[in-house]
Amino acid sequence: MTQLLQKMVDNERGLVDRGIFVDKDLYQQELEQVFGRCWLFVGHESQISKSNDFSAAYMGEDPVLTCRDSKGKLHAFLNMCRHRGNRICRADFGNAPSFMCTYHGWTFSTDGKLVGVPGFKEAYFEELDRSQWGLVETAQIASYKGLIFATWDKQAPSLVDYLGDMGWYMDMILDRQDGGTEFVSGSQKWVINCNWKFPADNLSGDNYHFPVTHGSALLSRQTRAPSRTPGGWNDGWAVSPGNGHGVVSFGGGSGYGSGRSSTAGLPQDPSTQHHLQHIGEFKQRLGVIREAAAGTGGVFNIFPNCSYTETIRVWNPKGPQKTEEWLYLLVDKNAPQDVKDFIRKRQTSSHGPSGNVEQDDMSNWIQCTEAGRTMMGKRYPLNQELRLGQEQTHEAYPGTVTKNPSEINQRAFYKRWAEMMHAPTWSEISISPRTR
Ligand code: FES
Ligand SMILES: [Fe+2]
Repeated sequence: MTQLLQKMVDNERGLVDRGIFVDKDLYQQELEQVFGRCWLFVGHESQISKSNDFSAAYMGEDPVLTCRDSKGKLHAFLNMCRHRGNRICRADFGNAPSFMCTYHGWTFSTDGKLVGVPGFKEAYFEELDRSQWGLVETAQIASYKGLIFATWDKQAPSLVDYLGDMGWYMDMILDRQDGGTEFVSGSQKWVINCNWKFPADNLSGDNYHFPVTHGSALLSRQTRAPSRTPGGWNDGWAVSPGNGHGVVSFGGGSGYGSGRSSTAGLPQDPSTQHHLQHIGEFKQRLGVIREAAAGTGGVFNIFPNCSYTETIRVWNPKGPQKTEEWLYLLVDKNAPQDVKDFIRKRQTSSHGPSGNVEQDDMSNWIQCTEAGRTMMGKRYPLNQELRLGQEQTHEAYPGTVTKNPSEINQRAFYKRWAEMMHAPTWSEISISPRTR
C-alpha cells in the first residue's frame, strides 16, 4: 500500500491520481487511518457554555455528541446507544441532564454512564454490569481558544502539537479581541456530491481559482471587476504551516484573502468599521505582523476537514462521492449586534447552499470528483505544479511559503494524507510542533 500511495500522490512532480477521490477501499481506509486518528473539530465552547449543554457533530461518518457533564467537564461521545445502536440524541443542540434512547429506554448521564435500564430488576435480575455499557468516549478532547477538537486515538499528539504553527495563524481569528469568539446559533447543512478532499484542498490553498470561479459573483456585487491576471489574486503569500494545514493567503494588500485591505476605496461596512475601530487592541494582542496581515478575510484549512472563511466549515465524508457540509458563523463575541447581523447576512448570501460564491465552488468540486470515475478521466492525474520548487521560508511568517497563487498547500495536504494512510501508528507520522 505504501508504494501504491506514493505513486498516487507524487509530490516530486505535483501529480495526484484521481482514484483517491472515488476508490471505495481507499475511502474505507481513510475513515480508519485519517478520521479515526486525527484531531477533528467537534464544536465551539459557546455552543456548550453551561453544564449539561450538548451539541451534535460528526467525526468522519460517526455521529458524536459534544457536551459538558453536570460538573462542567468536556466530553465527546459516540452518539450510539450501547444496546442496539440507536442514536441517544437526535437534537442538534440543547441542554439535558441525561439522554434516553428512544428504542428501549436505556438512559445515559452527561458523563457517559449508563444510569437507567428498564427492567433492570425484574428482567435483568440486576445481573447486567451497567459499568461496562456506558457511552463510547473519544480518547482525547481539547479546546483551542474556543474551538473544540477530539480524537479517537490515544496516541495522537497533543492538540497544540497537532496544530503546530497553524495555531499562530488561528490566533488572528480566535484571539484578536478580549472575550474571544462565539458561534451565531444554528448551522447550515447540505450535501454536495463531491469527495471531501476537494473542498478541503480548496480552502487550504486555492487562491488561484478565485478570479475565474467567482468572477460572476464579484460582478454581481459590483465591488470590482474580476481580473484573471495577477491583479485578481492575493499578492501576498501562500503559507504551509506544517502538519498538512494550509493558509490560503497572508500579508497581501489586494485580492482574495487580504481582508480589510481588499475593501480599500469601498464604502465601509459595519464589519470593516468594527475592525478599524479595534486595530489598536488587535495589534496589542497579536503584534504588528499578524494584525496587518489578518484583516477579516483569512482562509485556511485545519487538516483534515475543518476550514475557515469567517465561517467554520466541516467537510463530513458520506462516501467517496458525497460530502455533508456543516457551516457555522464565527464572530467576535464582544462585537456589537449590528456587526454580527451584517456578517451573518453577508455570509449567507455568499456561502451556504444558496450562496452565490459557494455554488460556483460546489459545481467545480462535483465535476473534479466525477473525473476520477469515468473510463478516460481516471487515466490522467490531476496537476499541482503551480510554484513547485519555489518553496521558501519567510523571516516573519512561520512555516513554508511561496508567493500567490500557488499549490504549495495542496501538495502539503495530499502529502500528509498519504502519510496518514500508510503509517500504522502516530509514532511514524512526522509532527512539526509550534515554533512561536
Ligand atoms: S437501542 Fe437503545 S435502548 Fe435499545
Ligand atoms: Fe471558491
